[in-house]
Amino acid sequence: MRIDILSLFPEMFNNVFNESIIKRAKELGKVDINIVNFRDFTNDPHNKVDDTPYGGGAGMVLTPQPIFDCVKSLRKDNSLVILLTPDGEVYKQSRAYELSHKEHIILICGHYEGFDERIRSICDMELSIGDYVLTGGEMAAMVIVDSVTRLLPGVITEESHLNDSFSGKLLDYPTYTKPRVYEGMEVPEVLLSGDHKKIAEYRYQESLKKTLERRPDLLDKE
Ligand code: ADE
Repeated sequence: MRIDILSLFPEMFNNVFNESIIKRAKELGKVDINIVNFRDFTNDPHNKVDDTPYGGGAGMVLTPQPIFDCVKSLRKDNSLVILLTPDGEVYKQSRAYELSHKEHIILICGHYEGFDERIRSICDMELSIGDYVLTGGEMAAMVIVDSVTRLLPGVITEESHLNDSFSGKLLDYPTYTKPRVYEGMEVPEVLLSGDHKKIAEYRYQESLKKTLERRPDLLDKE
């Protein structure tokens, strides 16, 4: 999979994409992540990418030209162009699965007070990572790249994400490792029993209990 990220702050991505699972996925050739500074595409003689809003109001607004030209230079027949914006569809694990099957994703990070409305016309999808406003789309892009990359075949074992919270309707079950007793807290006996059927049933019941307590809304979803 190839992911292009359009951002005015490419350096923000350095550490995040060069550690842990994303780093390994890149090294394995599972994902190719390319950060593009769309300021490089501006026709403005002073390298500007934003301007004041028509009709008045606070702050600066990203102009359409640099983003249009940048997307034009990157887009292929199989590309999916996604705008990151707090008024987009709220991002969910089901969307992460869908995106993990795409060949090419282009993520556009807005910044400053907003972007010219016409930028929406070149996007196939608009995503928000939650009901709060960030200073820009960069962190949202990181969240999406991380959650999609770990789903690519061969990045982590399939078993690891099949049981994830949100993969089905249930939150993940509790896990334990050594030592068997820590500060008086014991690992549940059933996990030491070696009885895989009983362990599976215990985990299912724990998932169900946690979901009922914390996120009963998940049980109603389609
Ligand atoms: N840009 C600013 N806030 C955002 C959010 N919540 N999700 C995606 N992009 C954003």
